[in-house]
Amino acid sequence: MAIAFLPIETCPPQQPFAECRGISLSEELSDDAIGAIRAGLLKHGLLVFRDQGAMTPAQEVAFNRAFGWHDPDQTDFLFGFGAPTTEHRVSGAAQMPDLPEVSVLGNVMLENYHGITNTQLKPVLGFTHSAWHADGLHDMFDGLPEMTTMFNPVGWQTRGGGATYFTSGVHAVTRMDGEVLEELRRCVVAYVRSPNDQERDDSRRVTPGSSRMVDEGTRRIGFSTRSDDPNAPLHDFELLIEHSNGGGRHAPIRRHPLTGEDALYITPGQAVCLLDAESGELRHGVEETVDLLARALRPSVGPEFRYEHHWQEGDFVAWLNTLVLHSASDPSEIDGPRLMHRVRLSSPRTGQVRHP
Ligand SMILES: [Fe+2]
Repeated sequence: MAIAFLPIETCPPQQPFAECRGISLSEELSDDAIGAIRAGLLKHGLLVFRDQGAMTPAQEVAFNRAFGWHDPDQTDFLFGFGAPTTEHRVSGAAQMPDLPEVSVLGNVMLENYHGITNTQLKPVLGFTHSAWHADGLHDMFDGLPEMTTMFNPVGWQTRGGGATYFTSGVHAVTRMDGEVLEELRRCVVAYVRSPNDQERDDSRRVTPGSSRMVDEGTRRIGFSTRSDDPNAPLHDFELLIEHSNGGGRHAPIRRHPLTGEDALYITPGQAVCLLDAESGELRHGVEETVDLLARALRPSVGPEFRYEHHWQEGDFVAWLNTLVLHSASDPSEIDGPRLMHRVRLSSPRTGQVRHP
């Protein structure tokens, strides 16, 4: 059967995502197959492959390396971020010891799973639920992962909840208010400093907790005292412009170098302010930034527009972070066991230095 890209049955028609049929990812991929999948990823942004239960972790990594978007020199695979070794590590998932490119996340106890022993997984999120983001965007300066893949192995089926939400950043650009778009084109987003970046510096631990999001994950109202409890109170903390010092800077509207398409490319939960793209001067303070980014994103993330992927055993989903934004659903709604694999490899660094 030839490779085919078909609409995903449960996906709203406004999204360009597709189901890829006619391929077994547990077999070595031919050059033709890689070419077809590559074209499918660039066209659709996200591909769902069903019934891939025979896929091994090594094949997950091979898939992520097949398209040439990764950094061949990456040596640290802390969830694919390439962060340095420090004592402060983002928790909530475990890496396979022999295949550190693969993170395992969920809520189950692992006695011995691909070399991970005696580990209780906990669905800790970087944000309180429904916080839209692109992987790496808010905690990396350079080498951001082009692609993320997630896999639900056979034998692990969640009874309910645990869906992952997706929306096309490309379509979000066409759907947003024209004035908002024009303004965002003039800006660069300054993100809060994060411990999960490439600077080894204790003083950088200013991230006060997960963002508490409202309006379908488009608007930050503060930082939660706990990252695994949506009902936890907020920190008594005021986010100031200074908290973006040394943090990542990324254009909120990004033109993809291969497709030429503009995409909305933001993580509102960790954005501090908007700077002028040319002069670097402040254009919008903390409150205005929250507002503008929410206006940009909100038309594209409601239940009628977003794609909610409800994971089935054997599902393998690949998406391009530069074309698609995603969000976890509320982890408190997870019913039953959950175990997922995730791979995200850094892209080659451009040599861009971080901003002061
Ligand atoms: Fe993510």
